[in-house]
Amino acid sequence: MHEALAHLHPYPFEKLARLKSTARAARHKTPLDLSIGEPQHETPRLVIEAMAQHLPQMARYPTTRGTEELRTAIVKWLTARFRLPKSSLVADLHVLPVAGTREALFAFAQCVVDRTRPDPVVAMPNPFYQIYEGAALLAGANPYYINNRDDADALPRFDAVPAEVWERCQLLYVCSPGNPTGKVLSPQVYERLLALADHHDFVIAADECYSEIYLEETRAPPGLLEVAAQCGRHDFRRCVVFHSLSKRSSVPGMRSGFVAGDAEILKAFLHYRTYQGCAMPLYTQAASIVAWDDETHVRENRALYRQKFDAVLPILQPVLELTRPDAGFYLWPRVPIDEVEFTRGLIARENVTVLPGSYLAREAHAGNPGTRRVRIALVPPLVQCIEAAHRIRKFVESLI
Ligand SMILES: Cc1ncc(COP(=O)(O)O)c(C=O)c1O
Repeated sequence: MHEALAHLHPYPFEKLARLKSTARAARHKTPLDLSIGEPQHETPRLVIEAMAQHLPQMARYPTTRGTEELRTAIVKWLTARFRLPKSSLVADLHVLPVAGTREALFAFAQCVVDRTRPDPVVAMPNPFYQIYEGAALLAGANPYYINNRDDADALPRFDAVPAEVWERCQLLYVCSPGNPTGKVLSPQVYERLLALADHHDFVIAADECYSEIYLEETRAPPGLLEVAAQCGRHDFRRCVVFHSLSKRSSVPGMRSGFVAGDAEILKAFLHYRTYQGCAMPLYTQAASIVAWDDETHVRENRALYRQKFDAVLPILQPVLELTRPDAGFYLWPRVPIDEVEFTRGLIARENVTVLPGSYLAREAHAGNPGTRRVRIALVPPLVQCIEAAHRIRKFVESLI
């Protein structure tokens, strides 16, 4: 067996399942689950229709590179969304379809990390999406956790990373908008990271899968490619972004996303993926094209999340320290007692499930930045989110 398998941590939801098995849920109350970030809004009709219409294409093998039509649709979307210079992205060179960002984020480290270089490091935010850590370990690298600031800013403390760590770093994962914080990296932070990447020779993998769930219609989060282009890096050197339809179009089961950026890196990644065997079915590609081509359903999707934040925040803010995120669909409040005990108590008293913050983070530097925090995913329908908020408030009030 691969020796690193033994170092993989149990997934947060495995830990949560164990916790739930020991908590005696308040069965007289309807269960409300706000632990998993699985979008539950209605699947856009146009996506279902396109998929249904193209189902007979399952008779053909798809290619790893994807169809020209899909790559062109992706380039069109990226160019418009991130105001990239016309023709700076080329469908044949700069984009590849992936079966959701999860597999791509994992596979990317396997492709990029050079194990022959001494002590490779893959750096990542802390708290994080756990795939970054598993990807680093299985690629033979040491994960380096960059703790978030414990203030309203809540961004990773990139400036606290020692130069010798940057020197060994081969790959840096960033997540903007962040899961679980909902914080967005500013162009200035991205510029600083680009300078570090040039100086220390590493690749930046920007997980932007929440980029379309922003809360103010006029304030779309910036992306890494956008900042790179604004800095005159028209070759997107060292930059790769990861996008997905899962959150944008509420189709987590469709498994459709893409990677885009540095042509040299994508060429190597295509080569790697040819062997991995992860080509997207042609009917999924056809449905993805109509999804990337349409913004109406995405605006409607955002409006639904906005409604939830507008309804839930006034209920919770009087009892919990929490801020409105810039984007995403999570709340990341500080809680008055140990986060695991809080979660257990909330299940036992109110039959509401959230995720303990420490399950999404590691003990590093000055502690575990998920301590005394929980993640609340506003994915159920509005009425359920409101009901859950009232029950959480009642539970918090019983503690103080
Ligand atoms: C930060 C982050 N990245 C990536 C993913 C994977 O999403 P998908 O594989 O559906 O694109 C998730 C899913 O919850 C996530 O939270």
